[in-house]
Amino acid sequence: MNRKIIVAKSAGFCFGVKRAVGIAEDFAEKGIPAVTLGEIIHNPTVVEELRKKGVYPVESVSEVPEGATLILRSHGVPLSVIDELEEKCIPYADATCPFVARIHRIVAERTAAGDTVIITGNPDHAEVKGIVGHAKGDVRVVRNLAELEELSKKEENLCAKCITIVSQTTFLRAEWENCEKFAKKVYTNLLIFDTICNDACTKQSEADALSRRCNGMIVVGGRKSSNTARLWETCAVNCPTVLIEYPSELKPNDWKNCEVIGVTAGASTPYGIIKEVLQTMSENKEISFEEMLEQSFEKEESKYVRNGEKVQATVMVVKDTEIVVSVGSKHTGFVSSEELSEDPSVKPADIVKVGDEITLKVLHVNDADGTMTLSKKKVDAEKNFQAIEEAAGTDEILEGTVVEVVKGGVIVVTDGVRVFIPASQATASRNEALEGLLKQNVKFRVLEVNAQRKRAIGSIKSVLNEERKARQAAFWENVEVGQVFEGKVKSLTSYGAFVDLGGVDGMVHVSELSWLRVAKPADVVSVGDTLEVFVKDVDKEAKKISLGYKKEEDNPWEILRRDYPVGTVAKAKIVSMTAFGAFANLIPGIDGLIHISQISYERVAKPEDVLSVGQEVDVKITDIDFDKHRVSFSIKALLEPPVKEEAAEEEAPVEE
Ligand code: F3S
Repeated sequence: MNRKIIVAKSAGFCFGVKRAVGIAEDFAEKGIPAVTLGEIIHNPTVVEELRKKGVYPVESVSEVPEGATLILRSHGVPLSVIDELEEKCIPYADATCPFVARIHRIVAERTAAGDTVIITGNPDHAEVKGIVGHAKGDVRVVRNLAELEELSKKEENLCAKCITIVSQTTFLRAEWENCEKFAKKVYTNLLIFDTICNDACTKQSEADALSRRCNGMIVVGGRKSSNTARLWETCAVNCPTVLIEYPSELKPNDWKNCEVIGVTAGASTPYGIIKEVLQTMSENKEISFEEMLEQSFEKEESKYVRNGEKVQATVMVVKDTEIVVSVGSKHTGFVSSEELSEDPSVKPADIVKVGDEITLKVLHVNDADGTMTLSKKKVDAEKNFQAIEEAAGTDEILEGTVVEVVKGGVIVVTDGVRVFIPASQATASRNEALEGLLKQNVKFRVLEVNAQRKRAIGSIKSVLNEERKARQAAFWENVEVGQVFEGKVKSLTSYGAFVDLGGVDGMVHVSELSWLRVAKPADVVSVGDTLEVFVKDVDKEAKKISLGYKKEEDNPWEILRRDYPVGTVAKAKIVSMTAFGAFANLIPGIDGLIHISQISYERVAKPEDVLSVGQEVDVKITDIDFDKHRVSFSIKALLEPPVKEEAAEEEAPVEE
């Protein structure tokens, strides 16, 4: 059978273990007497090799030989151990993994603040005991979701308290996610710290993916190692899985019927043991692993990364504010949401998902912490800067979003590249506020680039001017008398208002603004008003256009014709007097004359003898001359004529 063996990229020592073993080896190589508090890692081979070099495990502080340094292993220890060491003046080297030390800090701070801290993990594991030993108040440990549910039932009072939840670094991610979901439902004042080690997480995800592709898996690691146990659990769900501590435990039957065999190893397994396992399998002569092994070591060499380097990474975890990636080195990679995209509104889950392969730029490698920070947006920007360079000085129009107003202009981002637009190039006209552009999508041209410094300068104005010219050309081409436009009042003069019809200005003469008598345009409209205007006249040659604003239906003479026929009785207000009568206003724009002879049946010498300005009177419309715009009113027509004396006598009863 042509078998294939695949070794998980992340198999073997994690950063924390490597660091702890390195510290112990350092003591051994320098010949400084040192012991470790418990086995430095859960791997008998490593422990034995160190013992041969003089560094061996002790079970308690009291067993530390005189003059020896106590090495604290990567799992960490309770604070009481440090106190004891300091009290007894025993020198110690702290090899606690920085990821575990971070949990110590969280637990100490949150319990000191009064929170109850819940740790998801194995209470019997040294790491969890160490974490508990850093609490300054209430702390609980739950092994799984079932125990978390149980805790909430048993202690309902916790629901009202401030709760912080953390996990053991090697806790199963899927179980953690269940616990997280449940805790969010039950505890209202909840702080969640996802403290699962990303190395463990990477190993688990890779083991899961690999075991789905294989017919069998071999997990190499210490039987006491919790992360090895997690790997075995993860793989066993997908295919037959064997856990071995030593290469000698391998049995050919373990892979007899397997076409594809996967090999992974816990965080405490040195590469030497993985190599031996592969060699043992090779000695069975069924297949040769030498080549693959060499390739594997070559890969290790190339896993050294430097600041500024571009790397291929696999997305392992997607959180709300960052993603965790594996780049194949021993460092855990973090990409914050700010380094994922230029758009602050975009969430990591909108851009990537677990398992995605992406190219990133290394911003900083922290060997002490075993972490590195990376950026996706810088890679995107570099790639897209080429497009900017090509567009420079050409007519090409690009699109982008204004993300910032800075001194002297605005910053537009297009495909992750920042382009500076000077204030003079940002708007169509001077003195327009730049703040109005913020978050707007804009079109621009690239004026110049500095390829070395990756800087680009652009112009929005250039595009706006061109668009305006195009709109103007289309306007003059199509404009016709009678056409209606909506426009903005741009400026006012004593004789009219200039209205912007969208790139072309037209004028409404003051006489066209209203049917009433208007002293100046400002009495009717203001700058910035939106008006519906119509084209009264157009001169395409001279590019001049006169506009009308007042509407026929508002013409008072039309209202009069429609609503006030001759004979109508209405109220009117006296507005002025003359020797031959009084003028009264019927509706805005229509004043009629009450001739002196039409004021009363009695003789009136002067109108002001019987009427006064402002007085409201009942009038009858007696005549309308639409051509001459004249209206005649009569008060007298509404009065009872006086009774004549002769007639009164005639009608008097006759006395007998
Ligand atoms: Fe540290 Fe993670 Fe290893 S917590 S000891 S790097 S598995």
